[in-house]
Amino acid sequence: MKIALIGYGKMGKEIEKIALSQGHQVVLKIDESTISDFTIENLKKADAAIEFTTPETAVNNILKCFEANVPVVCGTTGWLKHFDEISNLCKDNNQAFFYASNYSIGVNLFFRLNEYLARIMKPYSGYTPSMEEIHHIHKKDAPSGTGITLAEGLIKNHGNLKNWALEENAKEGELPILSKREGEVPGTHTIKYKSACDEITIIHEAYNRKGFAEGAVIAAAWLVGKKGVFGMNDLLGSEK
Ligand SMILES: NC(=O)c1ccc[n+]([C@@H]2O[C@H](COP(=O)([O-])OP(=O)(O)OC[C@H]3O[C@@H](n4cnc5c(N)ncnc54)[C@H](O)[C@@H]3O)[C@@H](O)[C@H]2O)c1
Repeated sequence: MKIALIGYGKMGKEIEKIALSQGHQVVLKIDESTISDFTIENLKKADAAIEFTTPETAVNNILKCFEANVPVVCGTTGWLKHFDEISNLCKDNNQAFFYASNYSIGVNLFFRLNEYLARIMKPYSGYTPSMEEIHHIHKKDAPSGTGITLAEGLIKNHGNLKNWALEENAKEGELPILSKREGEVPGTHTIKYKSACDEITIIHEAYNRKGFAEGAVIAAAWLVGKKGVFGMNDLLGSEK
């Protein structure tokens, strides 16, 4: 597969390593210093684009891939208020778009564990749920995209919470999320249910960025030849 890398930062470089080791080619690498190469003509040389940039630039980058008729896998977080608009444009223009707040298989299993735990905790109002996410100090958005997916999964299955909010703003009936920024942490997410007597905790800790990068390359290979809007449940198959 010929890949266009849109965003050549921490994730773009990790994706390049994985892609090359699997025999794929990287035909275009775009970051702020090579933005003049980001043309429709150059994009058309790729079978798929993989986009890991910034919350401010992701939407335009995705639209450019639609314009070039190139399937696009996006991992950038923090732009999701535009998700419906992008989905509609993708479908209306017969394009291919894949989004995941987290491409690692382990995190996607953790999403399912989180939903299962929320379902079994639902009748036990003595247990109060909360979340903590820790990421490196360079991260631009808070809470993390993965944290938001976890919060949505918990709220939908628990049924007794209205919404999520950053811990400092959380009101009664909202899931508090504590976002910590420390050193070079790739991503640690903790869900806790605390009662007066005990607590139940589940944790996912990424050791490095390899799992995210591998998942993004798998998603790109899977997306080629498809049309529509997809996510990790389409790739992994829905929960049995
Ligand atoms: N979905 C996942 O699995 C996953 C995993 C890790 C990180 N992320 C997200 O991916 C994004 C990127 O993370 P990172 O750690 O690589 O960040 P980074 O800051 O290391 O890299 C961002 C890159 O985007 C480039 N860039 C900025 N503006 C651009 C533009 N207009 N066009 C093209 N490139 C541009 C920068 O030059 C830089 O190379 C973040 O939103 C992060 O939260 C997602």
